[in-house]
Amino acid sequence: MKKWMMFGLIALATGQAYAAGNTIKVGVLAEMSGTFADFGMQITNGAKAYMRQHGDTVAGKKIELVVRDTTGPAPDVAKRLAQELVVKDNVDFIVGFGLTPNAFAVAPIATEAKKPTIIMNAATSVITVKSPYIARVSFTLAQVTEPMAQWAYKSGLRKIYTVVADYGPGHDAEQTFKKAFSRLGGEVIGELRVPLKNPEFGPFVQRVKDSKPQAIFVFVPAGELAVGFMKAYNERGLAQAGIKLLSTGDVTDDGVIEALGDNALGVISTHQYSAAHPSPENKAFLAAYSQINPKQRPNFMAVGGYDGMAAVYEVVRQLKGNIDGDKAMQVLKGMKLNSPRGPIQIDAETRDIVQNVYVREVRKVDGKLYNVEFETFTAVRDPGK
Ligand code: PHB
Repeated sequence: MKKWMMFGLIALATGQAYAAGNTIKVGVLAEMSGTFADFGMQITNGAKAYMRQHGDTVAGKKIELVVRDTTGPAPDVAKRLAQELVVKDNVDFIVGFGLTPNAFAVAPIATEAKKPTIIMNAATSVITVKSPYIARVSFTLAQVTEPMAQWAYKSGLRKIYTVVADYGPGHDAEQTFKKAFSRLGGEVIGELRVPLKNPEFGPFVQRVKDSKPQAIFVFVPAGELAVGFMKAYNERGLAQAGIKLLSTGDVTDDGVIEALGDNALGVISTHQYSAAHPSPENKAFLAAYSQINPKQRPNFMAVGGYDGMAAVYEVVRQLKGNIDGDKAMQVLKGMKLNSPRGPIQIDAETRDIVQNVYVREVRKVDGKLYNVEFETFTAVRDPGK
């Protein structure tokens, strides 16, 4: 090889190393297309809102998002993309995950590559058990469901029917509700699981109506499924039949609440975030988010993206820009953040989130539908952890 060529190659190689050395790459795996495209949009916009608010340089390093589209609940795609992020893009963190199946698929890669992996939404309890390199800043279905069972019993309800999406988080919601509600003395008189893909809610909802419970408890993933469920609930006249609607906040999600229409008024839900949460942190978050996307209201997934980036920034700061998987996990364990939803902490032992869970009612605020918080369960853990 000629001398000048050699020099060129070395220059290229060191040039790249230099560039990589000054950049912290954050691989974002999220659903950017298909039925669940809103998940990826909310998550990435939440992450960008954090960067807009706090600048894109930490400990002298530039923070760069490398976004990859899992296209929906697609474990094989998620796995391949995670491998590419590790091997080709040489990312320092893997973050994102709207849907549980994608988080499960990536757990072995996080372990093998020792990549700090931050779950910004996916909410099945066992996800954090699947790899010691996973920490969660979102929530678990079990965590928000137990307070709902308690609230329902306290409100005098005794006979409830549960309807959940038939996969991880739905199973957790169903089991947690039944356990907590029956322990108190209530009764789950029927349980239905609906498919995650293209469910026809009408016949399911009719079955619930025919068995005359006092209330129905529902979890389906936020977005189109929530709209579909609500439509069937209204068309089949459950409210008129006196069957109250209780849900996790996924169903009355801020991203689609206006699409649910006035029929959603009065729905009671439990969740960790409402855009109506009254705090200076939330006000600042809403302002930052509207600079990224003025057209859409941020939801709990956007807050997950935002807090996940806050966690990344804190790790980079504490490790002075030299990211090592094990050291990063040490920083994440026990981390406390002042989230737009209220104070949160990543539990040092389980790497899962501890946070307030709010009971909310859909009401009109200034002519728009919001989940108005009226009761707080403080510092709630996943009941199984
Ligand atoms: C999940 O797949 O874990 C998931 C998705 C959407 C939600 C909640 C949980 O609203």
